[in-house]
Amino acid sequence: MLTDEEIELSVLLKAVYLKYGYDFREYSYDSLLRRVRLRCKRWQCESISSLIPLVIYSEDKFRQLLHDLTIPVTSMFRDPEYFKALVDNVFPVLKTYPKINIWHAGCASGEEVYSLVFLLNDYGLYDRASIYATDINQQQLDQARRGRLDVSAEDAKQAYHRAGGISTLERYVQVIDRGVEVLQPFTENIYFCKHDLTTDNHFGQMELIICRNVLIYFDQELKKNVINLFSNALYEGGFLFLGKDDALVMPEFENNFSSFDGKFRIYKRSF
Ligand SMILES: C[S@@+](CC[C@H](N)C(=O)[O-])C[C@H]1O[C@@H](n2cnc3c(N)ncnc32)[C@H](O)[C@@H]1O
Repeated sequence: MLTDEEIELSVLLKAVYLKYGYDFREYSYDSLLRRVRLRCKRWQCESISSLIPLVIYSEDKFRQLLHDLTIPVTSMFRDPEYFKALVDNVFPVLKTYPKINIWHAGCASGEEVYSLVFLLNDYGLYDRASIYATDINQQQLDQARRGRLDVSAEDAKQAYHRAGGISTLERYVQVIDRGVEVLQPFTENIYFCKHDLTTDNHFGQMELIICRNVLIYFDQELKKNVINLFSNALYEGGFLFLGKDDALVMPEFENNFSSFDGKFRIYKRSF
């Protein structure tokens, strides 16, 4: 039985879907409820249902709500030891391929994508890589494409080395007023495009898919559908790299994936 507040939330999500095509109806309710309550407070709305006319009649207000619901929190070399596991265990396999297609799903404002690019370059893999970086949030993608990252250069430097970086961060970025700017050759093999994991299909076959700290916001059914999407988008033997809290629970997924390095959330598409 749903509470009154949950019913109001369902109506809001349906309205957002009908008006703008974004489908949050299978996201985890607890997390959605927390964020929508906060938005109510900020706009001094008494109930969730009073948000409906605001976001339906104002695209600008909808953008603000979208920002809340998509949680665009990210950082460079997030959980560096996880990247180190990718470098140590997956890069040697990728090195045996002449071309590497990588899908970075839910890339937010790009910090993680550029982190990967710098590491690929350190290990001689960047020139053969094509990186498809996607997100549901166009504003985040526009920011990512500019290659200006709002990070502390000092923190990024430390994380880069902990993640297995063997050159210097200065090789890749220039320090600017509020963060760092990625140098030109390292923005070239990345294609940023809008893609919604809840509604869009996969495109092309990949050797590696990275999707970190996105699935945690989905309910079980949606998570299952997205893992299936990834399974279809990977070559047999391809790798799926998830976030710290995104473990694949076996045996549910064992027809499609085996654990390659379970501790660091790296899975391999079954043959
Ligand atoms: C918490 S951030 C994680 C960013 C980055 N992967 C990281 O781990 O630092 C979640 C990202 O997932 C994106 N996202 C949420 N729902 C999505 C969907 N249905 N399709 C594609 N991206 C989505 C959000 O816009 C946001 O940029």
